[in-house]
Amino acid sequence: MTKKRMLSGIKPTGQLTLGNYIGALSKFVDYQDEYEMIAFIANLHCITNPQDPEELHKNLKDCVAMYLACGLDPNKATIFLQSDIMEHAQLGYIMCCHTYMGELNRMTQFKDKCAKGEKNLTGGLYTYPSLMAADILLYDPDFVPVGEDQKQHVELTRDLANRFNNRYKDLFKVPTPLVPKVGARIMSLSDPTKKMSKSEESNKGCIYLLDTPKQARKKIMSAVTDSLNQVKYDPENQPGVSNLMQIMSSLTNKSMEQIEEEYAGKGYGDFKRGVADVVVERLEEIQSKYNEIINSNLIEETLAEGARKASSIAKPKLQLVQQRLGMEIIR
Ligand code: TYM
Repeated sequence: MTKKRMLSGIKPTGQLTLGNYIGALSKFVDYQDEYEMIAFIANLHCITNPQDPEELHKNLKDCVAMYLACGLDPNKATIFLQSDIMEHAQLGYIMCCHTYMGELNRMTQFKDKCAKGEKNLTGGLYTYPSLMAADILLYDPDFVPVGEDQKQHVELTRDLANRFNNRYKDLFKVPTPLVPKVGARIMSLSDPTKKMSKSEESNKGCIYLLDTPKQARKKIMSAVTDSLNQVKYDPENQPGVSNLMQIMSSLTNKSMEQIEEEYAGKGYGDFKRGVADVVVERLEEIQSKYNEIINSNLIEETLAEGARKASSIAKPKLQLVQQRLGMEIIR
């Protein structure tokens, strides 16, 4: 039986975070045996904001190394750099021509930035959900594993797939977003009402996969909690504690009940130390592999082979789309 296909990507505008790992990357690794996994590095999405070229280049390389260090196996998964496959940009433009401005206006990421009064927002940022739809539909995946914040974009992708299928006969598989039950939205440690994010102004609330054990431990020990002094899963009334429980549960597979039992009658100090131990142990595992990979040829080899495999799917797909739209003369 052929395996179902799964596709996802990460946009490394900065260092990857524990949120990226728990909400997305660790899931790619879990799925790579059961599914045909395609995982790419979304570098076209990185440049929707101004980037320092040297830093961007470093972040891209780090991201590939992190994919591998976290356990993605290039012999199982297809791992590639988005801009190595021209078809993304080309189908992205075609998608853009089929996306209504009303739909783009409703996308929360753009809306939030506008609401904050951010200046000089680019056209690329505005239309990025159309490019993301192209990233997905080019490969006809069955599932798209993402964290909570990307679900809206996958819903738009479904709408676009249906729109194309109605206008141009069945062209695309309509993909299903896969959002994890636990860990789909890891919150900032310094403000548990906000998502843990690499673009956070202060670094205190965000754990990076390359943080030293000391840095990570310090951030967890100073995480904002509450004055109830009970380890209980209650995101509404105890968002900080519940967030730490999500982190612990995701990394250990313990249920919320098990964690509550383990820390019944103990203070937040003990609980935070427990969370820090689990996080630091995982970071150390990842970092020791990362250090082996970052200066090896494995990065280039993985990307070259990944681009070859991705291209063999993307090229004929784009050709089919252009034919159906009546755009081609020479085939
Ligand atoms: P990006 O780079 O912002 O995030 C990558 C993945 O990490 C998840 N994530 C989180 N999950 C839980 N808690 C958090 N705090 C947290 N922060 C991030 C995201 O939900 C995401 O799954 N547009 C995408 C990249 C992209 C893509 C695609 C994804 C481009 N094309 C096609 C899937 C399919 C993005 O900016 O994700």
